[in-house]
Amino acid sequence: MRGLRPLQRSQGRGRQDAGLTTTPRSLIAATGSYLPERVVTNDDLAAFLDTSDAWIRDRTGIGARHVAADDEVTSDLAAAASRRALEAAGVSAASLDMIVTATVTPDSPMPACAVRLQHKLGAGKVPAFDVSAACAGFLFGLTIADQFIRAGGARRVLVVGVELLSRIIDWSDRTTAVLFGDGAGAVLVERAEPGDPRGIEACRIHSDGSLAAALEIPAGGSAEPATERGLAARRNKVHMLGQDVFRAAVRGMTDVGQEVVAAAGLTLNDVDRFVPHQANLRILQALAERWAVPLERFVLVLDETGNTSSASIPIALDRGLSDGRLCRGQRVLMSALGAGVSYGGVLARL
Ligand SMILES: CC(C)(COP(=O)(O)OP(=O)(O)OC[C@H]1O[C@@H](n2cnc3c(N)ncnc32)[C@H](O)[C@@H]1OP(=O)(O)O)[C@@H](O)C(=O)NCCC(=O)NCCS
Repeated sequence: MRGLRPLQRSQGRGRQDAGLTTTPRSLIAATGSYLPERVVTNDDLAAFLDTSDAWIRDRTGIGARHVAADDEVTSDLAAAASRRALEAAGVSAASLDMIVTATVTPDSPMPACAVRLQHKLGAGKVPAFDVSAACAGFLFGLTIADQFIRAGGARRVLVVGVELLSRIIDWSDRTTAVLFGDGAGAVLVERAEPGDPRGIEACRIHSDGSLAAALEIPAGGSAEPATERGLAARRNKVHMLGQDVFRAAVRGMTDVGQEVVAAAGLTLNDVDRFVPHQANLRILQALAERWAVPLERFVLVLDETGNTSSASIPIALDRGLSDGRLCRGQRVLMSALGAGVSYGGVLARL
């Protein structure tokens, strides 16, 4: 890396403290979320699947999930959540410097869902792109926003976690159909003013492709054999080795949570609230046990949303802030693991 100077100096946009330049921080300035109107309960599923409300609640903690209307597409969900975040902040879409959409269910494989969102919001010709890191996608997006803001490349970034998973679920497969739901959560990440105690304190993201086959959509990509292209409809749906993913989620989220608080020079005792990705209540119970923190300090929405993948953390953030489970000034630890496997953690003062 010879010849490269630290970004903060070359950008020259850091804060001046007694002659020293410090990197600006980013903060989560506002949140918004959107869940489609239609609610599908466990009993609704039991009407056409060999399952029951008791099994689903007992094994996953899920009571219901929202499912998008036939005429809704992913960028519609993203736009609804984004408008709420922009309204909460009292700023216009034209003021955005960048749009990052975390999704594995874009409106179409190309172009990015983020450009459709940009157009629907009426944002300027700012960079708009998707991040594909499944359930960890929102934290990957938040990390990208934080890095751009710290480096001086952006002041206000819209990060959206959005999924329309009902379109990629095999509704005849009870091992996956009961788990997922549709929804969107959006946050505005802004450059913090000097002296503001709020802000993102540390981010850590990882991927481990050795577990790629544990949770995948096998068909539709460049690896699909020519003879099968477009033929095998079920291969175009989510396939999962549930117990492998379960074990990876407990291990990955435990480790990355500890890693990110240590990176900030803190311990889990310094964290006020935990806002993890919500796939299964048993995963979260195992996480609370390993971290030795009470589950009561977790902000949970799983019961009414199911697993909304990249949307689950921003939905929980928005819900928590609006119903009082979260307060400005609190330190929150967000952590997630999803297909890839990709996983990450972000520590922030709200
Ligand atoms: C999917 C998951 C809920 C299954 O729970 P589990 O306790 O591992 O259950 P198993 O897969 O061992 O299945 C136990 C039995 O329940 C059955 N079963 C599976 N789904 C069922 C359902 N919806 N209703 C009723 N029975 C079901 C299985 O067929 C199996 O029956 P068998 O013993 O006769 O073979 C769990 O593995 C899980 O949550 N994994 C992580 C998934 C995840 O988080 N994915 C997203 C990551 S971001």
